[in-house]
Amino acid sequence: MDLLHVVGARPNFMKAAPVHRALSTHKGVRQTLLHTGQHYDVNMSDIFFQELRMPAPDINLGVGSGSQTQQTAAIMLGFEGALATAKPDVVVVYGDVNSTVASAMVCAKSGVSVAHVEAGLRSFDRTMPEETNRLLTDQLSEYLFTPSPDGNRNLEREGIAKNKVHLVGNVMIDTLVHMLPNVPKREAMKLPENYVLVTLHRPANVDDMDWLPKMLKMLSDFSHKMPVIFPVHPRTRKKIAELSGLKLPETVKLLDPAPYMEFLALQKNATVVVTDSGGVQEETTYLGVPCLTVRDNTERPITIEEGTNILVGRDISRVESEMNKVVAGGKKTHKVPHLWDGHAAERIAAILTA
Ligand code: UD1
Repeated sequence: MDLLHVVGARPNFMKAAPVHRALSTHKGVRQTLLHTGQHYDVNMSDIFFQELRMPAPDINLGVGSGSQTQQTAAIMLGFEGALATAKPDVVVVYGDVNSTVASAMVCAKSGVSVAHVEAGLRSFDRTMPEETNRLLTDQLSEYLFTPSPDGNRNLEREGIAKNKVHLVGNVMIDTLVHMLPNVPKREAMKLPENYVLVTLHRPANVDDMDWLPKMLKMLSDFSHKMPVIFPVHPRTRKKIAELSGLKLPETVKLLDPAPYMEFLALQKNATVVVTDSGGVQEETTYLGVPCLTVRDNTERPITIEEGTNILVGRDISRVESEMNKVVAGGKKTHKVPHLWDGHAAERIAAILTA
């Protein structure tokens, strides 16, 4: 059996690593790893391959940045040729990034089966590019691997045949469980006893040049109570650079995008995490660290229902008041969702090779 994995952007790498590893134990499976090049900075891409001990990609399309349409189209054009040469039986795609939907569309037009890892998630917010990517990829997939039962319910409502849908658990948590014993200690990282960890990169937040400076001002004020550590995505870095006259206190530490192990250590030891990322909502739920999601919706409701996540919206005063509550010791009761147990990728490999 020939399988081709498509990865392109940072959150794909930690999802593909355990699936690739699990499949490599199955005899008769040949695997090809294709990187679209959607993310290309060392800190957004190469470093993850090294840390996760993933083989270097066999193919790199090198598409780089562009508008949503340009990037999606460039991946489609590059991927069509690669697919014709590799001739896989199944293409495995991950998550909800432009690389995911672009490769799924090419497969559909070329008659190649698609397996979607992290299927069924819905924010019900069609203004998010990721929501379009999720909806289309799921419609085009033969195998839909869901991380939680809400995914199965969403797919059933959209008319997808039940026999294509498999509740397998969360592959991102597989990587977390696998790597956790090697995470650097608080002392080795020279981390303060208490701190707020911040990540922001969604266009709805960081491209809003009214909202972004207000958020940074709130974080700056708060940092006099508790330091703020903020690894900055390249998109956010560019937007912050455009804010003339912005002066952040030393208590707000802006870092380059963090490598995987370092970022896990930052999450594990944080007092509270403020984020608009999808994966961080899941990782904090597993780690039992309070998470405030600065969005109006989430495609990962189980992190709210069962985990440590609270959806605070884009309301800066609400973010601040929830930060104060956590700092004062307020903690949600929480548990780790079913099948977020470190073995999701093995279940995927068993189904694909059955
Ligand atoms: C993409 C995903 C998003 C995911 C995020 C994680 C889509 C639609 N979005 O968003 O779901 O949460 O990745 O990071 O696929 N850039 C660099 N270097 C890089 C990569 C990007 O400088 O290595 C800059 C470029 O200016 C680029 C911008 O960041 O235009 C945004 O990159 P892009 O891949 O378009 O989307 P992300 O915001 O990273």
